[in-house]
Amino acid sequence: MENITESLYERIGGEAAVDAALAIFYNKILSDPLLQKFFVETDIPNLMQKQKSFLTFSFGGPSDYTYWQRGLRNAHRGSVEKGMGDEHFDLVVRYLDDTLQELSVSKDLITEVLSVVEGTRKHVLNK
Ligand code: HEM
Repeated sequence: MENITESLYERIGGEAAVDAALAIFYNKILSDPLLQKFFVETDIPNLMQKQKSFLTFSFGGPSDYTYWQRGLRNAHRGSVEKGMGDEHFDLVVRYLDDTLQELSVSKDLITEVLSVVEGTRKHVLNK
């Protein structure tokens, strides 16, 4: 019987889904000349950890970081100072959407994931 209390993270496939999405998402972000400049001072293991935290968070899963509000705000202050804005946020959202489509995640689950991410916009962009 379906468990209606199962979290988004569990429904999407848990850590295996995060790992599958990680490499695809990471390549898309780092291949985009508009986004690369924000990551030049970030070392690679750190960046992979960031992407993993990002995906785990987006899928509504457990994470070792206090993401909400102050956390996301502080983590992105430097990028905002370098000019990060809505257009960059939109690109990251689009790459996440594309990644999940490539992994054949259902439209309904993708909509849920993207709404979690959308909820972070004002914090990430320090608005
Ligand atoms: C779309 C919503 C976003 C979410 C939910 C998100 C989430 C995160 C998380 C969880 C971290 C790790 C923070 C830490 O470890 O303290 C992080 C760091 C970071 N994010 Fe984002 N992020 C988002 C969008 C963006 C965008 C649009 C950019 C720039 C194009 C960006 C650039 C960065 C950078 C440069 C770091 C810091 C890496 C470092 O420590 O050097 N993020 N983000």
